[in-house]
Amino acid sequence: MSQDQGRETPADLLSRIDTTQPHSARRYDYLLGGKNNFAADRASAAILEEAIPMMRMGVQENRAFLRRAVDFMAHAGIRQFLDIGTGLPTSPNVHEIAQAVDPTSRVVYVDNDPIVLVHARTLLTSSPEGSTTYLDADFRRPETILQDPHFAETLDLSEPVGLIIVGVLQYFFDEDNPYDLVGGLVSALAEGSHVALTNGTYDFYPQFATFVDDVMKASGLPMRARTEEEFSRFFDGLDLVPPGITVISQWRDENEPKPRPKHSDVGSYGAVAVKTR
Ligand SMILES: C[S@@+](CC[C@H](N)C(=O)[O-])C[C@H]1O[C@@H](n2cnc3c(N)ncnc32)[C@H](O)[C@@H]1O
Repeated sequence: MSQDQGRETPADLLSRIDTTQPHSARRYDYLLGGKNNFAADRASAAILEEAIPMMRMGVQENRAFLRRAVDFMAHAGIRQFLDIGTGLPTSPNVHEIAQAVDPTSRVVYVDNDPIVLVHARTLLTSSPEGSTTYLDADFRRPETILQDPHFAETLDLSEPVGLIIVGVLQYFFDEDNPYDLVGGLVSALAEGSHVALTNGTYDFYPQFATFVDDVMKASGLPMRARTEEEFSRFFDGLDLVPPGITVISQWRDENEPKPRPKHSDVGSYGAVAVKTR
């Protein structure tokens, strides 16, 4: 279903929101200082912060990477974006970043958490020259995204797209076939399209990998951390743009406040690549 909520009553929508379990969108919102979260999300965040005091910094750096990556893609000429796992609205949202470069930019937002659908109106505040759409759809079923009629109304797949999957891949374990999910979306995109990805990693503190893995499980949202080699496989067949794969806080961070955080305080890889063939 898209942002056209005609087929779902508010009561139906609310009945889909489970406030007893932590959800990644709401916990992330809490860690970014937002208000769209419940006790279960805050309890989950408390478990993380108790064990990993730098957790908030990692979350803020993830959002800063998203901002820089979208700005980079917009300056590279990308005018249409597909943002998978959008999360709750957080200013600046993808369309605000892209439309600051070119107000005609168009964005399709996708998330499967009903709480994001409830707040989707904020994501639909496009400039008059551009447009945005919100799809309540699942990354595990890319065909429902690409075949949604609202998708084709907003994005033209014969032109380059900026595909954004940021802060999401670590929730996808190997049995979800995340490489195939990313590859399937990339194969639908025109040459010149850009792909921005991040994934949590334990590479910067291997001695604490088991501890952090256990904390993630205890928090209710287990994480599939990936090594640099595992993360690089998402970009097979694509050309990484400089500086390639880095810790997210270091990717094109020339204009960020100094000193930059330690890699181990951030703990995620990020990169942007171009589809050239
Ligand atoms: C940590 S938030 C990231 C938000 C945003 N991309 C960012 O980086 O600021 C992860 C988001 O992925 C969404 N998500 C998780 N699994 C998903 C799926 N199977 N399909 C669509 N969205 C999903 C969650 O609902 C959540 O909003």
